[in-house]
Amino acid sequence: MMNPSSEGERVSLRLSIRNVSRNFKTLRALRDVSLDVEAGQVHVLLGHNGAGKTTLIRIILGLIRPTSGSVSLFGEDPWRNRSRRGMRQRLGVLFEPDALYEDISAWENLEFFARIYRLELAKWEEETKQLMEQVGLYDRRHERVVKWSAGMKRKLAILRALQHQPEFVLLDEPTAGLDVQSRGRVRDAIQHFRRRQTTFLIASQDLSEVQRLATHVTLLREGRSLYSGTLAGFYRAARLRRFHGSVDDVRNLLRNLPPGVELVREESDLLGAAVVLRINREVDPETIRPVGLAETPVLMEDIYLELDR
Ligand SMILES: Nc1ncnc2c1ncn2[C@@H]1O[C@H](COP(=O)(O)OP(=O)(O)O)[C@@H](O)[C@H]1O
Ligand SMILES: [Mg+2]
Repeated sequence: MMNPSSEGERVSLRLSIRNVSRNFKTLRALRDVSLDVEAGQVHVLLGHNGAGKTTLIRIILGLIRPTSGSVSLFGEDPWRNRSRRGMRQRLGVLFEPDALYEDISAWENLEFFARIYRLELAKWEEETKQLMEQVGLYDRRHERVVKWSAGMKRKLAILRALQHQPEFVLLDEPTAGLDVQSRGRVRDAIQHFRRRQTTFLIASQDLSEVQRLATHVTLLREGRSLYSGTLAGFYRAARLRRFHGSVDDVRNLLRNLPPGVELVREESDLLGAAVVLRINREVDPETIRPVGLAETPVLMEDIYLELDR
C-alpha cells in the first residue's frame, strides 16, 4: 500500500483517516485504510461493489464506528459528534437511494430542506432558480418528483445535498444506475459546485468519473487501500498505457517494443486492436509514441490488477 500523498499545498485539512479497519462479525469490510481529504479536492473513492466505500462514508459521517483506527473530520471525531447539529450544517450528503419526497414537487422538496437548514428564503429562491436552470430542471420544478426519470431525481438529490453550501460534500455513487447522458449532466452539476470551492468525496465504481472529476483518488479493493493520492500519481503508479488502432499498426508496435516496455494484454474488436503496455520504472512513459495508434483510457480493471500485483 502506498501512503496518502503529500503533494500539493496543505490547506486546512477536512478529513483525515488513519489505519481504519471495520469488521462485520468475521467479515473485514475495511482493513487499515488511511487517507486525507483537503479543502478544494475532489477525492474519488474508487472500487467495485463490496470494496468498502459505503462503509467508509458511514464511518466518516459517524453513523458507525471503526473497529480500530481513527477519523478526524474538521478536527473532530465524527462518532463523538454524531448528534451535533453544527457538523451537519457543514456537510452535504447524498446516499442511495435519493432522499427525496416523491409526492411533492421538486421545488417543494428543495424548499423543505432549505427550511430545515434555516436558509434565508429570498436569497435561497434566487439561487435555486439559477441552479435549477443550470441543470435543466427549472421548467419542471412544479412537477411531482414521483413522475421524474432517475437522472432528474439524481440531479435534484444533488441540489438538495448542496444547496446549504456545505464545506464538505460526500456523494455515494452519484451517477450509478443512470444513462450516459444523465451521468454527464450530473457530473456537470458536480463540476459547477466545485467552482464554489467545495470539497468532495465521491464514491464510484466508474473510472471515467475519476478521469473527469477527480483531483485525488483512493482505490479500495476488498477493504484494502491499493493507492491513495493525486490523480497523476494514480496513473503513474500503474505505469500502464493503452493504445488502439488497426491490427497492422498494433502488430507493428508489438514487433518493435522498446526496452523496458512489456505487453500486458492485447485485445481486438470490430474497429481494430488495442494493447495495454506496462512501462518499467527506468523508462520515461512519454517517449512512447506509436505510429498510427491513438491513446485510449486504461481500464479500471487493468489498473486494479497492476496496483495489486
Ligand atoms: N451492516 C453490515 N453488516 C454486514 N456486512 C456489511 C454491512 N455493511 C456492509 N457490509 C459488507 O461489507 C463489505 C463492504 O460493503 P460496502 O461498504 O457497502 O461496499 P461498497 O459500498 O464499496 O459496495 C461488503 O462485503 C458488505 O456486504
Ligand atoms: Mg456502496
